Amino acid sequence: MEFREVVMRRRAVRRFEEGGVDREVIERIARLAQRTPSAGFSQGQRVVVVTEQALRKAVARACGEDEMVDVFGPWVSECAAQFVPCVSEAIYHRRYREPDKLLPDGKEIEWPIPYWWVDIGATMQNVMLAAVDEGLGCGFIGPDVDALRELLGIPAEFTPIGVMPVGRPIPDVRSPSLKRGWVPFEQFARFDGWGAA
Ligand SMILES: Cc1cc2nc3c(=O)[nH]c(=O)nc-3n(C[C@H](O)[C@H](O)[C@H](O)COP(=O)(O)O)c2cc1C
Repeated sequence: MEFREVVMRRRAVRRFEEGGVDREVIERIARLAQRTPSAGFSQGQRVVVVTEQALRKAVARACGEDEMVDVFGPWVSECAAQFVPCVSEAIYHRRYREPDKLLPDGKEIEWPIPYWWVDIGATMQNVMLAAVDEGLGCGFIGPDVDALRELLGIPAEFTPIGVMPVGRPIPDVRSPSLKRGWVPFEQFARFDGWGAA
């Protein structure tokens, strides 16, 4: 698929066939998810890939699937795999205390932006685009951080960002938020400075 088509086809999918995707396909998505940039090449991103059906159910329960099943159906549990992107801020601090990153005064930089959140966003985008490229779809639901940590044995220094179900899309209920429409392109992209028209 052309890159442009992959980007344009991506959307938040909220219903999937149960299973039906080979493990190699899931692994290919995970391998592309790894190939994202990171500040100082810190690579604080990880992804837990949940394929086992009973565990997917438990993960979905931790995301409150039961409370929205009447509207959306079991869209978090029924899929081929759940990708749980995780990031460790501590890895970035350790990296930026290495000699090549220390300031002349021997201190770690004052972070202008918490780049760990930036980098895990890139990881998430790769999961979404790689899924589309495989002819699949991907959704996202915010986590109960503590419940996910416990359920999946995620170490304390890693924050699970949410759950991304991946699978063969079937007809779903779109987000009511889409009514908002896209921000006009001219508002989004500011050429040669914010105010130049
Ligand atoms: C950080 C983030 C959090 C989101 N949280 C949820 C969520 O909890 N539940 C959900 O159904 N969709 C969630 N979405 C999906 C958005 O609603 C969706 O991306 C947006 O409405 C635009 O639609 P599209 O992705 O289909 O283009 C989230 C997306 C992002 C990037």
